[in-house]
Amino acid sequence: MTEPSKFVRVCGLSELDEDTPKRVDIDGTPVSVVRTEGEVFAIYDICSHANVSLSEGEVEDCQIECWLHGSSFDLRTGKPSGLPATRPVPVYPVKIEGDDVLVSLTQES
Ligand code: FES
Repeated sequence: MTEPSKFVRVCGLSELDEDTPKRVDIDGTPVSVVRTEGEVFAIYDICSHANVSLSEGEVEDCQIECWLHGSSFDLRTGKPSGLPATRPVPVYPVKIEGDDVLVSLTQES
């Protein structure tokens, strides 16, 4: 049985500062929501290398950097740009409705 993708409101658009990740929780899943370059992205908040919150890292060039060892993850694809992380982290679809930011935990492929 496949469930239709369920978008949930995670915050208001006006609550997101440019390039400042916001950590939210969707049904127990930590997600980092990032407003950058005129778009909003949602990425799983835990680095694929170790248990580190990506929302504590810096955002630049549509990438979020893990502060511990410096791997950056592409906010569009979740792919790491370099070592030590080798595995991508999940990214999720985002919808903006008025001032509401909605995220679906359905993974983008
Ligand atoms: S914990 Fe993120 S790169 Fe090592």
